[in-house]
Amino acid sequence: MTSKPKREASGGANEYPPIDVRYVSLLWAEPAMAGEIASMHKMLFDPAWDEEELRKMLVDPCASALIAKVRLRHIGPPAPAGFVIARIVADEAEILSIGVIQPFQRRGIGEFLIDGLLRAAKSAGARSLFLEVADDNVAAKQLYDATGFKQVGCRKDYYKRRDGTSADALTLSVDLSKVS
Ligand SMILES: CC(C)(COP(=O)(O)OP(=O)(O)OC[C@H]1O[C@@H](n2cnc3c(N)ncnc32)[C@H](O)[C@@H]1OP(=O)(O)O)[C@@H](O)C(=O)NCCC(=O)NCCS
Repeated sequence: MTSKPKREASGGANEYPPIDVRYVSLLWAEPAMAGEIASMHKMLFDPAWDEEELRKMLVDPCASALIAKVRLRHIGPPAPAGFVIARIVADEAEILSIGVIQPFQRRGIGEFLIDGLLRAAKSAGARSLFLEVADDNVAAKQLYDATGFKQVGCRKDYYKRRDGTSADALTLSVDLSKVS
């Protein structure tokens, strides 16, 4: 994951009541959904991936991507809330990007997306799922810890920030044989 999160995830601000999982749908992200994902990506990452870039990723036969939509009566039709984009090559899968937009953060949607992807990657024949995360991305690191990822590598000072600071890139992996 080379794009960096734009800002810290919400610490669980209560703009919305807890979301019942019955109102969260996980859909396969088709190339036609590239625009919806691009809008979310722009809210979360800098630099953001544009619609065309995302469309090209989603048409790749190795791509495996999910979009989470939330149905809340007061905001009308199901609203895009998050996404995960992965690539599966032979027996290895890699998360390229994952995000949940505010105010849907800290409602279990990130975990829902990861669970869905773990099952999809396993049934596609992958044995391991990898990702990279900045060492200072507390929310993402906690999410990955909660979903069974373990650190398997570190790239020192990989993420260079505009303010001159840098952060290590941690490589995490999960063994899909342990996923039920
Ligand atoms: C990281 C991100 C995807 C998490 O999504 P989410 O839907 O908010 O996560 P969940 O609600 O499923 O959280 C699951 C667990 O992760 C951890 N977690 C999530 N957000 C957290 C936060 N802000 N601070 C601390 N722990 C957090 C918690 O352990 C949480 O379980 P709990 O709520 O029962 O304590 C979201 O914050 C995000 O999109 N951030 C910006 C983009 C980004 O950093 N992407 C990852 C790049 S590697």
